Formats: sequence, C-alpha cells, structure tokens
Amino acid sequence: MSLQEPSGLLSGDRKESEMSSFSLAPPPEVELQPGKPPILHVEPPGDASSWAAEHRDALRAQVAEHGVILVRGLGLREADQVGAVFAGLAGALMTEREAFAPRRTHGPGLYSSSAWPANQPMCMHHELSYALEVPGLMLFACLSAPGQGGATAVADAERVLEALPTGLGERFEREGWLLTRNYNEEIGASLAESFGTDDRAAVEHYCRAHAIDFAWQPDGSLRTSQRRSAVVRHPLTGRRCWFNQIAFLNEWTLDPEVREFLVDIHGEDGLPFNTRFGDGTPIGEDIVQLLNSTYEEHTRREPWQAGDLMLVDNIRTAHSREAFTGERQVLVAMAEPQRLSDWCPTPEASRR
Ligand SMILES: [Fe+2]
Repeated sequence: MSLQEPSGLLSGDRKESEMSSFSLAPPPEVELQPGKPPILHVEPPGDASSWAAEHRDALRAQVAEHGVILVRGLGLREADQVGAVFAGLAGALMTEREAFAPRRTHGPGLYSSSAWPANQPMCMHHELSYALEVPGLMLFACLSAPGQGGATAVADAERVLEALPTGLGERFEREGWLLTRNYNEEIGASLAESFGTDDRAAVEHYCRAHAIDFAWQPDGSLRTSQRRSAVVRHPLTGRRCWFNQIAFLNEWTLDPEVREFLVDIHGEDGLPFNTRFGDGTPIGEDIVQLLNSTYEEHTRREPWQAGDLMLVDNIRTAHSREAFTGERQVLVAMAEPQRLSDWCPTPEASRR
C-alpha cells in the first residue's frame, strides 16, 4: 500500500483510473539526506489517527530499515490527537518507571518531554536503558516548535559502537556499566515520580524485583545502584548496539558549574545520578568526552516543525534533546517493552 493513498493525494477520477496500477505503486518517498534523519512528507490527512492506523505497517517498516523516521505534514496539534495516533501506531503505551527527571502526564503512557533546563542539552541516550524492561519503540510528536535549537537528534548505536576504541568497547561489553542514583527533593525525579509511590516497602519491593541494590541514608533519602549491559544485541537484527546512558548520566557530562555546585552540596557520592564501569571503577572525564564526541560525529538532526511525528527504534538509535530557546512542546511515549534478560542477560538480571 502506498503511504500517500488515503491522505487525499489521489482523488476523484484520477484515483479511480490509477487503482488498477495501485499494486505497482512505488514505495513511499522518504527524503534521505546526510546529517538528517529520514523524513517522510505526507499531505495533511483528514483524520491523523485513522491515517496512522492505516499506515502503521508501512511506517514500522521504515523504522526497521532506518532506525528512525520523521513524518512531516500530519499537522498534530492536540495531546488527545497525539495519544490516538500513538495508540494506532504502537498499541498499548508503557507507564514510565525509574524516570531520572519529572514529566507531565497527558494521558495513559503519554508524557511531556523530561523537565530539563532549556539551555542544557540532554546528551545522546537510549530511553530507560538502565531498566530491565526497556521500550523497543519511542514515539515523539511536536505540538510547538522552539525558536532556536531543541531538535530531538539521533545517532545509530551500531555505528557508535564500531567507532569506539576496541579496548574501551570490549571492557564495557565485558563488565557492563553501573548507574548510581541518589533521590532527593531538589533535583531530578522524586521517589514518587520514579517509582510511582513513595511508600518505602513498595519502593524496596520494586528494587528487589528489578535487580537494583538500595540503601536508605540516615537523612531518609534513598541511594540505589544497578549494573546493566552496555552492549546489547538488537532483538530483530541480532546486531550489536551501544545501548546505555553511560555518558549522559555521568558527572563529566554535566555543565562544570552545575557539577561543582552539586558536589559541594551533596558530595562526590551524593550526585543525583552518576555512572561507572561495571566493576565500580570511576569513568574518567576523557572517556566521557570521547563517548560524547563519538556520538556527535554520528548525530543526525532535523529541527522540529509543529505537527511533526517521529518514531525511533530505541535499541538501535540513540536520541538527544538539544538546547533551545522559546517554547517547545514535544510529547513522548514508550511502547513495545523488551526484557533485556530475554536477549542479553546482565549478570544481575540472570541472577534472579
Ligand atoms: Fe529521552
């Protein structure tokens, strides 16, 4: 089926006359340009959610081929409309757990982008790569485009892995990575925002069930640590992907002034989040810079336009949020949960 058919490009007699050759219709025209994600231009449909449901398989095929597809022309304007489009494309949406920054909820599984200072980039990452159950698919919709910057940029995780120094990649592949978190009320997601509850027993139950080591601190705050695979095999292609948040959540990715401020207040071990090698060794600033520059070399970006939709294979493709000015409203959903232990056991996960 052509992606353009129900959108009204073919109408009236012309549509009738071309139906006989419809099965020979060329594949949808996807704009492929260096440095940009693939972009599919469509005519504004009468009903975006019906369009999405009808073209689900074709769009998903594009995601399977490219790892990401930006759809321009749908004219998405309202959260309810976006929720219906996302449901048509992905079915049930996931409820986020272990968020590292607060989000506003617009509906079941439909969220605002993470609250994060507009002038600070969110570096490349794979959503919830530290969870045992991770989204296979990310869905983004732009309701309001920022003035400058603010792209949700993408990077191919297979290429990033190939580009890393062999020894470094092998070490992370062997040891995995460690995420440490300290929950407090001032910065990052609160206990309730991360776990869906601030009940101690329920939080402890969640941690035990999800291979997270935890310790309540004398002031009543929670410190956690979890070890995860840094390199995983894609569930469909079997290819190895650099899949983690080692760089993004590391202290050396923070703005130097912000890092200094946080270390002054909370101490070296009290940062809201930090990452280490899987054996617990700190990761040097030079390595974090290397990871971020490798991402930068593989980054593709296209500025958001209001109404855009973007689908991202969360295993194969990392995403970021660039610094911006102006009003930016991007809605986010996660779908198609994948259990890491099903296809790439971590030492912790397989212990259970
Ligand atoms: Fe993200």
